[in-house]
Amino acid sequence: MVFSLYGLAFVAQLTLAHAAATGRCRSQPGDPGYPTEADWDKLGAQVGGQLVTVAPSAKACIALQCTEAQWLSGLYRETIPGAMNSYNWEQDYLASPPAMCLQNGTTCSQGMVPVYAVNATTAAHIQAGVKFASAHNLRVAIKASGHDYLGRSTAKGSLLLWTQYLQNVTFTDSFLVGGVDQGSAVTVGSGVGLKTIYAATAAVGKIVVGGTAATVAAGGGYSQGAGHSALGPIYGLAADNVLEYQVVIASGELITANAVSHTDLFWALRGGGAGSWGVIISATFRTYPAFQVTLQQTTITTNSSDQTAAVMAAHAKHVFDWDGVRAGQYFYLTNNADGTSSLALSTIFSNLTGADALAQLAPLMTDIKALGASVSGEDGTITALANYVLGFADDPSGVNLVLGSRLIPATAYHDPTKVGAAYKTLIDGGAQRILGHLVAGGKVSENANISSAITPKWRTAKTHIIVVTNWDDDATAAEVESIKQTLTNEYVPTLANLTGESDSGSYSNEADAREPNWKTTLYGGNYPRLLSVKAAYDPTDLFIVTAGVGSDRWDAYGLCTV
Ligand SMILES: Cc1cc2nc3c(=O)[nH]c(=O)nc-3n(C[C@H](O)[C@H](O)[C@H](O)COP(=O)(O)OP(=O)(O)OC[C@H]3O[C@@H](n4cnc5c(N)ncnc54)[C@H](O)[C@@H]3O)c2cc1C
Ligand SMILES: *[C@@H]1O[C@H](CO)[C@@H](O)[C@H](O)[C@H]1NC(C)=O
Ligand SMILES: *[C@@H]1O[C@H](CO)[C@@H](O)[C@H](O)[C@H]1NC(C)=O
Ligand SMILES: *[C@@H]1O[C@H](CO)[C@@H](O)[C@H](O)[C@H]1NC(C)=O
Ligand SMILES: *[C@@H]1O[C@H](CO)[C@@H](O)[C@H](O)[C@H]1NC(C)=O
Ligand SMILES: *[C@@H]1O[C@H](CO)[C@@H](O)[C@H](O)[C@H]1NC(C)=O
Ligand SMILES: *[C@@H]1O[C@H](CO)[C@@H](O)[C@H](O)[C@H]1NC(C)=O
Ligand SMILES: *[C@@H]1O[C@H](CO)[C@@H](O)[C@H](O)[C@H]1NC(C)=O
Repeated sequence: MVFSLYGLAFVAQLTLAHAAATGRCRSQPGDPGYPTEADWDKLGAQVGGQLVTVAPSAKACIALQCTEAQWLSGLYRETIPGAMNSYNWEQDYLASPPAMCLQNGTTCSQGMVPVYAVNATTAAHIQAGVKFASAHNLRVAIKASGHDYLGRSTAKGSLLLWTQYLQNVTFTDSFLVGGVDQGSAVTVGSGVGLKTIYAATAAVGKIVVGGTAATVAAGGGYSQGAGHSALGPIYGLAADNVLEYQVVIASGELITANAVSHTDLFWALRGGGAGSWGVIISATFRTYPAFQVTLQQTTITTNSSDQTAAVMAAHAKHVFDWDGVRAGQYFYLTNNADGTSSLALSTIFSNLTGADALAQLAPLMTDIKALGASVSGEDGTITALANYVLGFADDPSGVNLVLGSRLIPATAYHDPTKVGAAYKTLIDGGAQRILGHLVAGGKVSENANISSAITPKWRTAKTHIIVVTNWDDDATAAEVESIKQTLTNEYVPTLANLTGESDSGSYSNEADAREPNWKTTLYGGNYPRLLSVKAAYDPTDLFIVTAGVGSDRWDAYGLCTV
């Protein structure tokens, strides 16, 4: 059956792989109409030879003779076009049996890994790739670092628009938007990782609002989700600090989105969800003069879930202590197999001395010690440039994991015992890691009047809490499914319950890919407007990602409409 939609002819496949009998389907290898070798060669020539075939990371690593350290390195993996950091997203668990390509495995299926990639170094390469994908009705994936926790940067049978090598970094003291000087800013290619940005800002005495990672691409997925940072209480979310995007939209046109040009797209790109709008070429962020922060790191060890709950209740009681100095904090709880738990507390105090930082934490530490928990590293502090402290040398990668989260409103912290009880429920239920982020409040709340697609739940949040769960390669498909169900049906609802809200919100970049009410949970009341922006800029749904705007029109592979 052939019918015409949006001026293009689509072939609807009535096969099992293309299950939606009434829908339209993207063209897959083997389909009539799928690009021929000659077509691909033509695209290859258009992109100056920067068209590459893509293999799953385990297969690529055999050819590359990767060491184990490289396999586990985010910096290394981002050089492999088919690699995801959480490499479970390369596997097709939806197939029966699952189509896998595991490290040291004896067989390898392409799984969810793209077929070809445009290894772009210019906007023109991306434009050629977008036009080719449209003309040939291809499934598209966009990837910068491959960090995505929802697997949104890989797609079965797709053409990958790979932005990793868009590596420009340009500073200016006066960035103009519509002729109005917005002050100091940095424009980064969408492949530039935070480690590179932080080194560049340090060299010129500036800082940007960024996350704690090495390879996360600030102009890739990070700011499209919102972008949280330990500097959030001082400067707001990363997306609050974006002045402009250069983006290739579905038509293949390269446009500028800012406060005066394509303002509706600019609104959507800031918080409306990664990967749904177009291919970002570069993003411009405000910069601020560099300043010193003091990092204080403590590890608290508890010996039972009751004691952990008491410690987390004490933490909740003190969570507003640092509002006056606008500190950011990571409170990462790891539950060990022997029933003990370790809480790694990292607090970032801007412009405070080590002694002042310790004084800020003293009331919390007194309460924690009174509960009998064992405390180490309490007296140490590190004082250094802000972005130096935020960045990482590398990011752990090459593992199987999924996560889910909730934005926890300040109101939930008015009852600390309830917070402790939620932690106890999670620990007793087997949750492995519970990552707390005190990255909201302060300027994040004060920026509520900025008109962007950031879910309003960020503006009332005090913390963002993630439950992470992982598995080894030897887990059976049934075990993996059970792990995912426990996350979706037990851990995330426990966090949702803690919010005390019936319409609780989650951060779209660090959310459960199976979030049942994802339209509300990830986008809140912005969803209808996001749909209309999507219709205006991507009328054929070229850019479809899991739990992204418009994705419910497509099957789980993004291959056929439903
Ligand atoms: C170690 C680690 C630390 C993190 N720390 C933080 C943190 O401190 N704060 C925070 O907010 N988040 C953090 N995150 C989450 C991070 O924001 C998301 O994983 C984010 O999606 C990464 O974006 P990316 O482009 O690097 O990843 P990718 O996997 O390459 O892409 C992620 C999404 O963005 C889309 N995308 C990528 N490039 C482009 C582009 N050029 N144009 C359009 N769409 C694109 C992809 O299609 C996909 O949907 C962290 C993640 C990790 C793994
Ligand atoms: C694969 O083999 C390497 C080298 O022997 C080893 O270090 C690694 O742990 C193995 N990985 C898995 C998942 O078995
Ligand atoms: C992608 O392009 C960059 C820049 O030209 C190059 O350094 C890199 O090796 C290429 N990667 C692949 C996998 O082709
Ligand atoms: C990178 O910067 C150079 C010099 O300013 C510019 O000519 C080029 O277009 C930029 N590339 C991209 C992909 O933005
Ligand atoms: C830190 O102090 C410097 C120098 O006084 C100042 O410019 C900067 O705004 C301060 N930063 C914060 C976050 O308070
Ligand atoms: C846990 O620590 C508390 C406080 O130090 C102590 O009273 C209790 O005996 C410990 N329990 C176990 C099982 O070690
Ligand atoms: C929700 O929280 C309340 C109050 O803390 C608690 O009593 C209840 O058991 C929780 N429910 C679930 C399903 O976790
Ligand atoms: C938001 O409110 C603040 C403080 O009231 C004000 O300075 C700022 O200009 C406002 N911003 C917008 C976008 O309305």
